[in-house]
Amino acid sequence: MWWENSFLRNKNGRLHLAGRPASAVAARHGTPLYVYGREAVQDKYRALGAAFGAAPAGSRLRICYAMKANALPAILKLLRREGAWVDAVSPGEVEAALEAGFPPDRILFTGTSVGVEDFRRLLAHPGLTINIDALEQLDLLAQARRRIRSRRPVRLSVRWNPGLGRGFNPKVVTAGRQTQDGTPIKFGVEDRLVLDAFRRASALGFETVGLHQHLGSGWVREDLPTVKAAVLKMLAKARELQRAGFFLEFLDFGGGFGPKYFPGQRLFPLRTYAAFLSRSLERSGLSIPYVLIEPGKYLVGEAGVLLLRVAYVKKSYGFRFACVNGGTFNSVPRPAIYLQATHAVLNCDRLEDGPRVRVTVAGNLCETGDVFGKNVLMAPPRTGDILAVLGAGAYCRSMASNFNLRPIPREILI
Ligand SMILES: Cc1ncc(COP(=O)(O)O)c(C=O)c1O
Repeated sequence: MWWENSFLRNKNGRLHLAGRPASAVAARHGTPLYVYGREAVQDKYRALGAAFGAAPAGSRLRICYAMKANALPAILKLLRREGAWVDAVSPGEVEAALEAGFPPDRILFTGTSVGVEDFRRLLAHPGLTINIDALEQLDLLAQARRRIRSRRPVRLSVRWNPGLGRGFNPKVVTAGRQTQDGTPIKFGVEDRLVLDAFRRASALGFETVGLHQHLGSGWVREDLPTVKAAVLKMLAKARELQRAGFFLEFLDFGGGFGPKYFPGQRLFPLRTYAAFLSRSLERSGLSIPYVLIEPGKYLVGEAGVLLLRVAYVKKSYGFRFACVNGGTFNSVPRPAIYLQATHAVLNCDRLEDGPRVRVTVAGNLCETGDVFGKNVLMAPPRTGDILAVLGAGAYCRSMASNFNLRPIPREILI
């Protein structure tokens, strides 16, 4: 089946999670329940390393896990042991990464609308690299440093907005002037101000170490040309900075690699991208010790499912609803937030059971948009069936709320 991997298997028509029947896991731990596969996360991490292999010529690769995708401590620890760095976007994430054993010098902080109070919290952890998102942040960082009377060096990089971005939905296109639906893009330092940001940072006594960009999220094959164009822009900008006398320890190309969410999806060609990055870096003549990437979704997306139990099946105006014991906002909010986001739903014990019917998998929240999937083809669901929502490893638990005062499901890593 298109979704099978080291975590998800179809054995005799029953979904197995890391070798155990999903319905047995549900019976043992209850539903709704997030289940993540240790091996699947490891596999993805290693596959990414292999894709980049010798790629960044003359540079070494650092994979910084974008922990906003899923901050389960056991997943953070697992990736730490694999050798990952962390990309954190709030002081809370930095503190969770430290708690999971990441030393500050393996944490890159990239925040937006970061104020003095946030910077004070960050400066408590010397060694951290702070990626600023606006020139205005530099003075606030300097203020925070004065307030705590710190003379310790501060490692600083600049997130720039290269003027072009790419993502599966306008809400997650994070570079460019404005999204397709007209939202001005708030992230990064505009092209013409990047050099000023480096000059100002070094005048304030910060150690300027890198340049960063992040174009957006959920890339597929069609995104490759834009992504390549952005690589070239980044290298040109790095050259300009080096000419102006700034040594760059790293270039950070951000995250964005999409996981597999649906059959027939044209996946982003990681190896082609990595080879292009390597060649371009080599041709640029730049000497950059480290190349960074910041995958979130790619590492954990396919490594998680949400298990739900069918409370009852209802028919209304010709539609068949499987009414389940969980709500999207509380567990898999992506389809409710991003209209294009889809998650496959399986009837765990009846993967190959006879004729299939179209089902709307409806959650238990007071909201019409609270559906895990529309027109999902599956064996006719019955009360008590266990359903699995796939692709629930990334941006699901981390974006879940207590809407309707429904609880957020428990999580297990197996
Ligand atoms: C700065 C930054 N880096 C990395 C990521 C991770 O993106 P993805 O999960 O698509 O790889 C994000 C996502 O929003 C981000 O804002």
